[in-house]
Amino acid sequence: MSLAKVDAYLESHGARFENQLKDLIRIPSVSAQPDHDPDTRMAAEFVRDDLAAMGLKAEIIPTKRHPIVYAEWLGAKGKPTVLVYGHYDVQPAEPLEPWLSPPFEPTVRNGNLYARGATDDKGQMFTHLKAAEAWLQATGGLPVNVKFLIEGEEEIGGANLETFVAENRERLRCDYAVISDTSQFAPGQPAITYGLKGLAYFELGVQGANRDLHSGTFGGAVQNPLNALATILASLKGPDGKIQVAGFYDSVKPLEDWERAEFARLPFSEEDFQSDLAAPALFGEEGYTTLERKWARPTCDVHGFWGGYAGPGPKTVLPCKAGAKLSFRLVPGQDPGTVDELLRAHIAKVTPPGVTVEVTSLQGAPAVLVNVDTPGFRAAVRAVESGFGKKPVFIREGGSIPVVGLLKNELGVDTLLLGWGQNDDNLHGPNEKFSLADFHRGIKAGAHLLHELSVEKTD
Ligand code: BES
Ligand code: MN
Ligand code: MN
Repeated sequence: MSLAKVDAYLESHGARFENQLKDLIRIPSVSAQPDHDPDTRMAAEFVRDDLAAMGLKAEIIPTKRHPIVYAEWLGAKGKPTVLVYGHYDVQPAEPLEPWLSPPFEPTVRNGNLYARGATDDKGQMFTHLKAAEAWLQATGGLPVNVKFLIEGEEEIGGANLETFVAENRERLRCDYAVISDTSQFAPGQPAITYGLKGLAYFELGVQGANRDLHSGTFGGAVQNPLNALATILASLKGPDGKIQVAGFYDSVKPLEDWERAEFARLPFSEEDFQSDLAAPALFGEEGYTTLERKWARPTCDVHGFWGGYAGPGPKTVLPCKAGAKLSFRLVPGQDPGTVDELLRAHIAKVTPPGVTVEVTSLQGAPAVLVNVDTPGFRAAVRAVESGFGKKPVFIREGGSIPVVGLLKNELGVDTLLLGWGQNDDNLHGPNEKFSLADFHRGIKAGAHLLHELSVEKTD
């Protein structure tokens, strides 16, 4: 039987898969840093070449910034079509000092592969390439039609993919979309994610006088932009963890009773969670558990702020400028455009006199919820169980993958979010890792998914 041949192929080629992944990871394809543009290009070519080598029609599609890799194999007449999305770009590796091994020199410790991009998303994305390769090499074909859409701007929230998808609806048409760019529930407990948060990201620029001033000569007579910024930022959230922007919660879809019950059944210890982080206390919106806060309630966080003097020793400056970056993670029901308007109105209301505030919107993506009661979802459950030896639990996550909403809106398709990572993989941080055992389990689950979708009716 074909599936047995595929499994045997995976067994005998596992070592090479690891080496190929390491080669891909060595390419520092940091999409945010223009110095690395040749590397993002090289990573795109690596992915294109690998897809072409296994027998797909593969091409590089230039965009205004980083190229998209597109490939397809449409030889399974009458069978469903699966679109696999992934991203070959990675976050900056800085700060470098906390890394135990260089970020772009993949290093194995304790069965984990450490490197930038190991889990987000090179390692996870690559599992689907190897799953397809196994079918093509071991059986001469795929059980379903497959399209690969691998982009290079996910980590910078680029708009070029949106344009490409909108302009290529027919070419990208599919019955199911699959993304591996999320996490399992815990080691040994695979999961399928059915909800992701959205994002509304802003930069604030606060301007006071036309130049920096002596705080003795001028202090008390003009507004200090840093003080004003502190007032604005402090107004966003109350001591009860509630966001205080008027109207912010109006359209929030409440957690369903069945979800709260399911979350509560998951083996999650608030104490272990806290002690792992060594945080003095957990904090969040009153009336919700940690999992509910992480997965299903909107949040507001300041990511950085600047202004004035922060060097050694005192400097009695009254700065003329200050700035901050902040974002809201959104849940289903909320619209990033509406949040943009609400935030602007809030800031206009709370800004102390004597400064002007410029609000710039840097990113917006809606939250997503996928229907768990579909043939595709049921096929995914069986595939994950085959690959990981355990039935997946259904979870939501707090991260955002903007393409999921895009695929729903443009192609009308729900995405199967099959994450092979772990919550402590340090994605975006130093010492990012990916378990090699999960890499191989993910490849197997990916290979079995193609089979399961081929036998599942699209009702
Ligand atoms: N893979 C992550 C998204 C993710 C992280 C999902 C953790 C679930 C759990 C993705 O690459 C990412 O980093 N997304 C960004 C949003 C993007 C618009 C920059 C995010 O969530 O911050
Ligand atoms: Mn990712
Ligand atoms: Mn990421």
